[in-house]
Amino acid sequence: NNNVTSLKVASPASNVAVELADIDWDNLGFGIMNTDYMYIMKCSHGENFSKGELQRFGNIELSPSAGILNYGQGLFEGLKAYRKHDGNILLFRPEENAQRLRMGAERMCMPSPTVDQFVEAVKATVLANERWIPPAGKGSLYIRPLLMGTGAVLGLAPAPEYTFLIYVSPVGNYFKEGLAPINLIVETEMHRATPGGTGGVKTIGNYAAVLKAQGAAKAKGYSDVLYLDSVHKKYLEEVSSCNVFVVKGNVISTPAIKGTILPGITRKSILDVALSQGFKVEERLVSVEELLDADEVFCTGTAVVISPVGSITHLNKRVSYGGSDGVGRVSQQLYSALTSLQMGLTEDKMGWIV
Ligand code: COI
Repeated sequence: NNNVTSLKVASPASNVAVELADIDWDNLGFGIMNTDYMYIMKCSHGENFSKGELQRFGNIELSPSAGILNYGQGLFEGLKAYRKHDGNILLFRPEENAQRLRMGAERMCMPSPTVDQFVEAVKATVLANERWIPPAGKGSLYIRPLLMGTGAVLGLAPAPEYTFLIYVSPVGNYFKEGLAPINLIVETEMHRATPGGTGGVKTIGNYAAVLKAQGAAKAKGYSDVLYLDSVHKKYLEEVSSCNVFVVKGNVISTPAIKGTILPGITRKSILDVALSQGFKVEERLVSVEELLDADEVFCTGTAVVISPVGSITHLNKRVSYGGSDGVGRVSQQLYSALTSLQMGLTEDKMGWIV
């Protein structure tokens, strides 16, 4: 029929086909590599997830009217597996990710796996992709669980079917700066979250919403953006992909969790590590003035781990932090304490390692 425009079928998405032998383990960034297996588990709305399975890693098929594509019904998680020198594989607090996913699923009207199902699925996926875990000390295997409304809907409603999927990729440093300090700019026009919204859960839309400000900041040479609260416009919230801490003397403060900030697992762990090292920790409103007056500033997240902040720019005023190399003493100390725990180099007194 000549009236029908023929649609060319696009070739399958190009694979990020990296051979294991070609990986430069000393220079892993934070990018996607296709590994061997992914985990998939499905259920209908109103039911519970029951049985999942490992499948070869590959593209998934979705209805064009899938809930996640049309109405953003989706959540993700992020955690890491480390290879220890003795060959053991370590996970850091995976049940915390499971609980956070469950909390987010409740907010987004989705069913979610139980904590046990989540942790078992993570273990199965990591073991199936074991050869992709970087050698000890060279990085980690980033684990990305997704919870998606995959059933078809047209009217605005929860999707009729859900998919829990896990894929993995070997990673190194998140910021190109590595452990060198990052430079942030305070965003004064756009906001990441509002009270009563979804800023406190790991829904996919929160991350699309920060791309514009992040892109503008990067174009000006900054590493990322620090968001302010949308009501008073003067209290710190978080950076696009991580939580923020300010250090003043012996006191380490971070914005309190009140629905607009992601309850980071690294954030929570750092508060405990800092307490155990004799610091005073405070979760409360932290103002821009305090930020600019701080001795040190650092960010935390699964992907970024701990990233020292070298400078903050706010309304054309730039303040620098840290020692001669820009890395503050406290940031360095907490980074060493956390990473040696995560990599199994120090005794796990907290019982965080699986
Ligand atoms: C993580 O730190 O794991 C995250 O989920 C942030 C993401 C933007 C990489």
